Amino acid sequence: MKGIILAGGTGSRLFPATFAVSKQLIPVYDKPMVYYPLSVLMLAGIRDIALISTPRDLPAFKALFGDGRELGLNFTYIEQPQPKGIAQAFILAQDFIAGDNVALILGDNIFYGSGLEEMLLRASALEEGAEIFASRVVNPAAYGVIGFDDKGKPTRITEKPSKPASPWAVTGLYFYDSQVSQIARGLKFSARGELEITDINNAYLEKGLMRVNFMERGIAWLDTGTHEDLIKASTFIESIEARQGIKTACLEAIAFEKGWIDRAALLKRAEGMKGTPYGDYLLNCDAEGLWK
Ligand code: TTP
Repeated sequence: MKGIILAGGTGSRLFPATFAVSKQLIPVYDKPMVYYPLSVLMLAGIRDIALISTPRDLPAFKALFGDGRELGLNFTYIEQPQPKGIAQAFILAQDFIAGDNVALILGDNIFYGSGLEEMLLRASALEEGAEIFASRVVNPAAYGVIGFDDKGKPTRITEKPSKPASPWAVTGLYFYDSQVSQIARGLKFSARGELEITDINNAYLEKGLMRVNFMERGIAWLDTGTHEDLIKASTFIESIEARQGIKTACLEAIAFEKGWIDRAALLKRAEGMKGTPYGDYLLNCDAEGLWK
């Protein structure tokens, strides 16, 4: 399975912070925002990753991740000239996907919680159809919202409805079979001028090929679109890390645990960050014998 991180957009709700810098490179507590969605793809076992961003921001992502080899990954970079919708990713990345199954995550979505890795591994084993993840929110009108029939079966997703049919919002993490590029190519631009991911999801729902995973209490889904969201996300990550003494979205640790890099490669990266909480965390874990 291939993976896509969609990290373009304008980030206009964060102006002036995003006048010159990509939203997805702004730190959430101690690391660039994009580390969090990348860690999700890695936990799902995905190593071939395309990062899609704007012509302005793509060079900065290349500076951050390079070809991905230091993390045991294989990175491809793709430009999205204009933010024409999330579903456009599957058209832009068609050659990269090359008939494989594919997971897409939005570059500003953070997931954290127990059972997350198991849930991701189940989804990445998908053979046919699609899997999406729904989370209960207090402001569903801001999202794609799932409607249900009287037996509780998902029937239709409505993008930013004025009267939401339920509190269940579709999160920015999607798994699809190889049909997705073809479905995306058949879409029409919506009234707001975008190719809508909701239209792709409804196409799979209509065919009876969509599985909706409901994220229960144990898993947190955080948005980072506004300044308030950003500071709340940073505080959330800081309190978990301080309380539990672990690092979230620690890419080197995940790559090591998956068997994609060895101890020497991990320590090389850790040494380069010595004296920072992130680097010292990796070095302290080594002193405790974790990287064996
Ligand atoms: P949004 O939050 O809808 O848009 P944005 O990030 O540009 O922010 P704002 O509304 O403040 O202007 O996008 C959600 C995510 O999807 C975000 O990570 C950006 C990404 N995205 C793209 O990369 N390309 C696109 O065409 C769209 C619509 C979104």
